[in-house]
Amino acid sequence: MTINHFPLLGLFLGAPLLAAAQQPATEQRITTLLQQMTLAEKVGQLNQYSGRELTGPASARKDNQLNAIRSGQVGSMLNVRGVQDTRAIQAEALKSRLRIPLLFSLDVIHGYKTIFPIPLAEAASWDLAAIRLGAHVAAREAAAAGIHWTFAPMVDVGRDPRWGRVMEGAGEDTYLGAQIARARVLGFQGEKLGGTDAVMACAKHFAAYGAALAGRDYNAVDMSSQQLWETYLPPFRAAADAGVATFMNSFNTLNGVPATGNRYLQRDVLKGQWQYPGFVVSDWGSIGEMVPWGYAADKADAAQKALAAGSDMDMESDAYHNHLAQLVQEGKADVALLDEAVRRILRKKFELGLFDDPYKFSNEKREKQVLNDPQNRLAARQVARKAMVLLKNDHQTLPLRREWRRLAVIGPLAKSKRDLDGSWVPEADTTLITSIYDGLAQRLGPQTQLRYAKGCEVLGESRTGFAQAVAAAQSADAVVITVGETWDMSGEAKSRTDIGLPGVQEELFAALKATGKPIIVVVLGGRPLIFNTIADQADAILLAWWPGAEGGHALADVLSGDYNPGGKLPITFPRAVGQIPIAYNQQYSTGRPVTKPGDTRYKSAYIDAPNTPRYAFGYGLSYTTFTYSDLSISRPQLTAAETVQVQFTLTNTGPVAGEEVAQLYLRDPVASTVRPLKELKDFQKVALKPGERKTITFTLDKDKLSFYNQQLAWVAEPGEFQLMVGSASDDIRLRGKVELLP
Ligand code: GLC
Repeated sequence: MTINHFPLLGLFLGAPLLAAAQQPATEQRITTLLQQMTLAEKVGQLNQYSGRELTGPASARKDNQLNAIRSGQVGSMLNVRGVQDTRAIQAEALKSRLRIPLLFSLDVIHGYKTIFPIPLAEAASWDLAAIRLGAHVAAREAAAAGIHWTFAPMVDVGRDPRWGRVMEGAGEDTYLGAQIARARVLGFQGEKLGGTDAVMACAKHFAAYGAALAGRDYNAVDMSSQQLWETYLPPFRAAADAGVATFMNSFNTLNGVPATGNRYLQRDVLKGQWQYPGFVVSDWGSIGEMVPWGYAADKADAAQKALAAGSDMDMESDAYHNHLAQLVQEGKADVALLDEAVRRILRKKFELGLFDDPYKFSNEKREKQVLNDPQNRLAARQVARKAMVLLKNDHQTLPLRREWRRLAVIGPLAKSKRDLDGSWVPEADTTLITSIYDGLAQRLGPQTQLRYAKGCEVLGESRTGFAQAVAAAQSADAVVITVGETWDMSGEAKSRTDIGLPGVQEELFAALKATGKPIIVVVLGGRPLIFNTIADQADAILLAWWPGAEGGHALADVLSGDYNPGGKLPITFPRAVGQIPIAYNQQYSTGRPVTKPGDTRYKSAYIDAPNTPRYAFGYGLSYTTFTYSDLSISRPQLTAAETVQVQFTLTNTGPVAGEEVAQLYLRDPVASTVRPLKELKDFQKVALKPGERKTITFTLDKDKLSFYNQQLAWVAEPGEFQLMVGSASDDIRLRGKVELLP
């Protein structure tokens, strides 16, 4: 069964978004408005509150918020959604003296009503058009529901699977992360801000939040400037270059200074070097959190430090609301900085068109039409299929065999719906979710009988369900077991010290394995998990992440063979937590490299585990096979002004059509700063029919040979560069080299 490709994909042939230049007419309108504003009204624009209670029962918080809104003390609300509510609250804002409209914002991270796979899963597709499509559909639905601004994409490089927020990003690699950051910004914002099928995006969390010590959320971050510039900043720069409307800072400190109060990050880099025209919103309460951090003596001090450092809008800490006006009056805060922050915020409200029509995003008819557009679910299913990663497929166990007329579908997540959506789904309609069991039943029935048994819970030690599960397996021709995390085990404030399968799921697997039936394992979760016994003993393993509302259908598409999986890991799966940090581009030769397997005496190695991960960055199998051949490098040497083409032939040598993500890695073996063993420099996702071959070309220029040296200069040093083309970071198929001339 084939699913027609989402027609909106054709939309993405347009030119990339031009960085929104500042329009003179808009700037003049802002100046005129600023001149009319009182100090209190200026501070009002810098305040953002969560409005969950605004449409609920009477409460003191609700009254205070409504009064603040009516008196121009609020610039933005988050968590107010739906045309009816946004229209009602906007009307309150328009009662203020200057009738400045509110910005409505929400965490639309991987879908509004129609939930797509989590961002880490989408990254596993390595399909920039699909990723952009996911963001576009999410934006269309959110904008139709009165939302102007989403707090996405999260572009933090996430290398530590103990940190639960890896689920929200694009994984461990900077180059892939930067490409995906751009795709998501363009998907959310469209070609130009102001369309009612798009929302403002927000590059978050600025910066280096993913490097929290010990993988513990909200913790400190310490790193070299080289690391910051080489690994963590580029995806933010890519988002800024794509025209992202806003940034959000982060909860962590960077080398001892909280990001919210970090002048270097927000003023020197973002607004200075990068000339960024948008505005920065704090993360929830992060301005006030500079007090418990021990960086501010009190909230007044925090407010002063945050404004000086470039935090334009205060989400939920009340520090600006309660102290900024007085700080300005006492000469402790510069009114010019206040005016600049207000200007940045008003600029976005003008660009969205809210001064011309404050209700333009609140249209009942459009809300009904867009939120019920069946194309959105088709898109979610299409993206979910692309996100799945085939980790193992011994003896071609998959696709499911036609002769398997009785299939046991077992496990605590087999009939779950809510878990498939993952976390960060404030507006999800869980009635829309198709469970794995239902997806398989709809695709395989009636010719295949499904026998279900839960077996165990995700969490908990009870084994009472094992017998029924074993009986179901014994009565079947093959077994599909679903294992993993519940939806709230990854995400914000979900750090784990043990990233194994919770509960007794691996024991359930062992009991089913003992039946001798072919056993297919479907892994669900929001992060890399450790499941070594399953990895060794399963016949096939498919990583489905949290695939979203269409996950059940998408999984059936893949298990049945209707769709050939082509996903590749955007993040390394370790064998043991003790190997972390283990990202592929954190691997160095060292002075004592292990050169022969097993020869680890006095080498940089462990005595209790190999250095290699369970599954490497860029890894993913297919139902077909691909060969790489005929490598040619256009020139053996190049000058800084020249480029070199790396060309090879990719052939589908297997029985079915499929997609391969060909990857180009590079190593600078001798440099003034020791370089990683390999770094991703390009990739192409290529669809090939059986027997089809295609010539693939990657282009390298000086920039791709460069790194930040000890003086923090971006340099490409003359000498040899090793080139590697492969199907995964640990599956290099072709090798070559090129020399950069002085
Ligand atoms: C949270 C998150 C941030 C989110 C914000 C608003 O604490 O850190 O990513 O956008 O608050 O919900």
